[in-house]
Amino acid sequence: MTASEGRSCPIHYRYKPEELLRRPEFWNDDVVYVVGGLYGNPFALDEIEAMADRERAAGLSVRILFNGDFNWFNADRRLFASINDRVLGHEAMLGNVEYELANPGGEAGCGCAYPAFVDDGTVERSNRIMQKLQQVAGNDVKNRQKLGSLPRWRSIIFGGLKVLVLHGDPESLAGWGLSREVLAQSDGNRLADWFRRTGADVILCTHTCLPLTWSGEVDGRNRCLLNNGSAGMANLEGDARGFLVRLGASESPHGPVAFHRLTDLRLSLDPIAFDLKRWLSLFDRLWPTGSDAALSYRQRLVSGTRLTAGELYMGA
Ligand SMILES: [Fe+2]
Repeated sequence: MTASEGRSCPIHYRYKPEELLRRPEFWNDDVVYVVGGLYGNPFALDEIEAMADRERAAGLSVRILFNGDFNWFNADRRLFASINDRVLGHEAMLGNVEYELANPGGEAGCGCAYPAFVDDGTVERSNRIMQKLQQVAGNDVKNRQKLGSLPRWRSIIFGGLKVLVLHGDPESLAGWGLSREVLAQSDGNRLADWFRRTGADVILCTHTCLPLTWSGEVDGRNRCLLNNGSAGMANLEGDARGFLVRLGASESPHGPVAFHRLTDLRLSLDPIAFDLKRWLSLFDRLWPTGSDAALSYRQRLVSGTRLTAGELYMGA
């Protein structure tokens, strides 16, 4: 393992903001869920599908898009197959985890491109989790090939707005430019420039594991950014629920923790109240005490992060 594994941003992760919204798809569904960072949690996936079914029962059409890192803790042959079979039955795009599963053997390690504020121990453990997951994925040729054919971003016209769905940021699959840590240190010029260069009204992302929302005006148009944090892990202090982004003209029935409105489109961060007890029981079998994933993530699964709901909004 080299010193840069898990830290560097590989060249094949990079793209240009100007190319992202060149050929958008038109989606006419009533509701879209954008789900980042499922991290191999089958009980979060159960709940996401149940949330969609409840809306369908109320007469709405719902489309689900997984914007990467739906694999991570599922380093088990059957669980790997079942997570990927189920997720790939919906809309999906690459995260760095899926890229490294489909293209193993590079210098990227886990592909997280961790910045300096993430400690070395976390990076080394992530690289080892990736190696274990790559061994499992190597025996599932069908799903590995499917992962390799997924796009790195999706651009959608939805509700009359240009919606750009990313995994990392507008320049890299594993970019941290839309993380809480980077945005808190910035004067907002780079974010405004990214909205300008992509032409997006809405940017949705994940990858950095902590949720945030932002809204503001760029060149006389209102714009919105939502990072869902994680669908498969806790996001807030004392709250074990995952989050997804919901888009639609109708109001969310899921008790959103954050909410924005752009013209007729409502955008919210909705909680995913999955069965934590069953998830911990499975997690502990996959990743026993002292294992890399247990050391890095178990406390967060149970107790959440240090972030409060009042801190989600990062606009002016
Ligand atoms: Fe990621």
